[in-house]
Amino acid sequence: MKQWSLCFRVWHWLMAFVIFGLLATVLLRKTFLSWRANSELIVSKLSSFGMSITHDQAVSLAKAIRAPMWEWHIILGYILVALVVYRIILVFTHSGIQNYTNFDTKDLHQKAVSAVYLLFYGIIIIMSISGLLLTFNDKLGLSENFEHTIKELHEFLFNGIWIYTIIHIAGVIIAENKDEKGITSTMIGK
Ligand code: HEM
Ligand code: HEM
Repeated sequence: MKQWSLCFRVWHWLMAFVIFGLLATVLLRKTFLSWRANSELIVSKLSSFGMSITHDQAVSLAKAIRAPMWEWHIILGYILVALVVYRIILVFTHSGIQNYTNFDTKDLHQKAVSAVYLLFYGIIIIMSISGLLLTFNDKLGLSENFEHTIKELHEFLFNGIWIYTIIHIAGVIIAENKDEKGITSTMIGK
């Protein structure tokens, strides 16, 4: 069974926590705090009180209600960028490369698992760079077209993140119950 250094285990659980947080902010943005749904709600509630408001004013209110929650996307985003740097440093440790060496001794399943991890790392790096570009868009003076392309890429790769998260957790549960009993504990303690 593999062993993971304390530094690697800390990195893994911080990463899991930050990814869950980022996915939660996106879920809230698209559901309970959606500006489309809430602006319609504001218009209809105010009209039931005999007050009227324009569509643009309602949208501005709905976005203001959403703003404090979305700030967490950016805060967690910065932590994610720091965790990417932390992971790059871990490449120089045994824990950081053990899944990516001695490929000739690995079976097809182990090779596929390593490939999925590498794909995930690739996506995380692009998410971090595109997220930073979107955050500093005004200061960087990006053209509207470029900003739009970056946003589309960021939104598209979001799918890779949630799909990875589901496959990874399901994979660990299956491994734990089949031939890799104790795999979860290796990522918790020594
Ligand atoms: C909450 C449930 C989770 C459990 C029980 C869990 C458990 C594990 C275990 C046991 C391994 C080692 C697998 C091996 O032997 O190769 C691992 C690796 C890994 N986990 Fe998780 N994990 C969880 C969530 C997450 C989340 C949410 C992410 C990020 C989206 C994540 C990212 C990773 C990555 C990238 C690796 C590969 C490490 C390497 O580079 O070798 N994990 N996880
Ligand atoms: C796994 C990591 C990430 C995921 C899954 C993710 C997901 C998303 C999604 C789905 C959107 C589009 C929301 C919408 O318009 O409905 C978005 C927008 C955005 N993200 Fe991320 N993101 C991640 C990392 C980051 C990072 C690292 C940063 C910056 C440090 C960042 C900053 C932003 C910004 C500024 C926007 C644009 C918000 C707007 O147009 O109002 N994201 N993100």
